[in-house]
Amino acid sequence: MNIAVIGTGYVGLVTGVCLSELGHRVICIDQNPDKISILRDGISPIYEPGLEPLMIDNMDAGRLDFTTSMEEGLSSAEIIYITVGTPPREDGSADLSHISQVADEIAAHLQKEAVIVIKSTVPVGTNEYVKNRIEGMLANPVRIRMVSNPEFLREGSAVQDTFHGDRIIIGTEDEESASIMEKLYSHLQIPVYTTDIRSSEMIKYASNAFLATKISFMNEISNVCEKLGADVESVAIGMGLDKRIGNQFLKAGIGYGGSCFPKDTKALMQIAGNVHYDFKLLKSVIEVNADQQTILIGKALERFGTVRGKRIALLGLAFKPNTDDMREAPSIAIARHLINLGAEVIGYDPVANGHAEHVLPVQVRYAETLQEALWQADVGFILTEWAEICALDLHQVSLWMREAVLFDGRNCFSLGQAAAAGVEYHSIGRKS
Ligand code: UGA
Repeated sequence: MNIAVIGTGYVGLVTGVCLSELGHRVICIDQNPDKISILRDGISPIYEPGLEPLMIDNMDAGRLDFTTSMEEGLSSAEIIYITVGTPPREDGSADLSHISQVADEIAAHLQKEAVIVIKSTVPVGTNEYVKNRIEGMLANPVRIRMVSNPEFLREGSAVQDTFHGDRIIIGTEDEESASIMEKLYSHLQIPVYTTDIRSSEMIKYASNAFLATKISFMNEISNVCEKLGADVESVAIGMGLDKRIGNQFLKAGIGYGGSCFPKDTKALMQIAGNVHYDFKLLKSVIEVNADQQTILIGKALERFGTVRGKRIALLGLAFKPNTDDMREAPSIAIARHLINLGAEVIGYDPVANGHAEHVLPVQVRYAETLQEALWQADVGFILTEWAEICALDLHQVSLWMREAVLFDGRNCFSLGQAAAAGVEYHSIGRKS
C-alpha cells in the first residue's frame, strides 16, 4: 500500500520506518527542512535503539522516502497517517493546532480518496472534528474515511513494541476502513481490536492514565513501606504474582516522567472536566507524582539537615534509560531544588547530557563519565536506571567519593551489596 506519514516526530518516524519494513511504500512528510535533510542522509534525529539501521535498509530498498512537500507526499497516498504532536497548553488540555494545520493541508492537496488515520494522542471527538474540517475545505471532491489508531510504543523499545505489541486498536465507523487497516497490519502477529472512534480515542488516554495510576499507587505504597519496615520490592513481587494485578509497572521510584504520562494524565483531567466530571483519582495520581519526584531531596535533608555546599552527583538525567529524552524528567525538578538549596550539582547521563544542558539550571556542570561525576562528590543521587549505572562497582564508588552516601531513586542495588561495599545507601521503599 502507498502510505503518507505526516509529522516525523517520535511516533511518526517509528511508524513510517516500521510500516516500510512491513513492505509498504512510505513517504514521511515534515515541514522542517533540516529534519528532512538529516533523514534523507540516513540519520535518525532521535536516539532509539534499532531505528536507524532499519530506516537505512528500507531507504535502500526504495520503500521509504522523506519530503517537505505535502503535494508530493499526498499524491499517491491511499492511507494518510497524522502523527503530529499534541503538546499540553497552559491549562493541561491538548493543543490541537498542529492537527488543524495538517487537516487544512490535506484538504488543499488531496486528489483521490484516502483513509486518514490519526495516531497522535487526541481528545475524544477529534477524529470527527478533523473529518468535518477537511470535508469543509476539500479542494477536490473526494471521499475520506477516518480511523483512530492510537500507538502504545515506549521510548527506548519503540521498534520492538511496534512489531510485538500487545494489541492494535482500530477505531472506525465503517467496515471497509476496518478491513483496510487489518490488511495493512496483517503481517504482525498482534491481536487487533476494532471499535468505534470515540472509544478508541479514549482507550489511549485511559491506558496511559491507568499505568500512571499503577506507578503512583506503588510510590505511595513504598512511602508507607519505609515507615513500617516492609520492602516495596518484595511487596511488588508478591502482588504481581496475582494475574489480575500483573507484574509490570509496579516499580516504585521517583515518579513517572516523559512526554506521555504527565501530558496525558493532565489532558484527561481536562477532557473529564469539560463534561463536568471531577476525576478525583487522577488528580491524586498527578499530585502524588509531583511529590515523589523530589522525594530523594527530602531524604537528603533528613540525613544532613542541609545540602548547602555539598557536591551532589546526579547519575542519569533522562526520564528513563535508553533514551536521550529529558521531557518531564524528574532530574529537572531535582536539579532546580538542589541549586535553590545551595548545593553544587554535577550531572551525568550516557546520552542525554547535551539535551540536559538546555533544560537544567545553568549552574549544573556535566561529567563525561560516571567516575568523573562521582569523583570527590559528597552525595550521589541515582535518577535513571541505565545499565551502566546499575552495574557500578560500589567498592570503587566508595573510593571515588568524598563521603560515600548514595540516594538511589531506582533501587538499582540490593541493601546487601551496598552494605558489603561500605556505602551508606538510601533507596525507595526499603530500610536505609
Ligand atoms: C508510555 C507508555 O508506556 C506507552 O505505552 C505509550 O505508548 C507512551 O507512553 C505514549 O503515550 O506515547 P514511555 O513514556 O515511553 O511510554 O515510557 P514508559 O516506559 O512507560 O515509562 C514512563 C515513566 O514511568 C518513566 O519515567 C518510568 O521511569 C516510569 N515508570 C515506569 C515507573 O516509575 N515505574 C514503573 O513500574 C514503570
